Amino acid sequence: MIKEIVQVGDPVLRGKCRPVEKFDEALSRLLDDMRDTLLDAEGAGLAAPQIGVPLRVVSVNVEEGYFEFVNPVFVWQKGEQYGTEGCLSVRGKAGEVLRPSKVKILFSDRKGDRYSLVARGFFARAVCHELDHLDGILYTDKADRIRSEED
Ligand code: CO
Repeated sequence: MIKEIVQVGDPVLRGKCRPVEKFDEALSRLLDDMRDTLLDAEGAGLAAPQIGVPLRVVSVNVEEGYFEFVNPVFVWQKGEQYGTEGCLSVRGKAGEVLRPSKVKILFSDRKGDRYSLVARGFFARAVCHELDHLDGILYTDKADRIRSEED
């Protein structure tokens, strides 16, 4: 189900999200809603707090594919890249953000099986942006030269 995307100013975007403890039907529903909402919005990523749910769950939709990360944590972050970001919760704006160029994360899938993954380039940027959401951090906290985009 397509959910409304919470906009900046809502406190749910600024809290620290709780880890998922139950890999149950409710988690599957949350992940399905996040997929429907992200694909509808044509975004590169979505974190659960962006649909009002303060849990450590993100989805990422990039060239490499569509990914669901439950309780993701960084193993390492390497290099640097500087590039443009926007956010579905900060409509009409974009800014330049310094991120690692390569990251490795550990995460669970919706069944609770644990995996690791290495992401590079824009995929790494999207992972970093979404994991920040889980700690109440928005890209605008880190960006230079935030600008308004013509709609
Ligand atoms: Co965002």
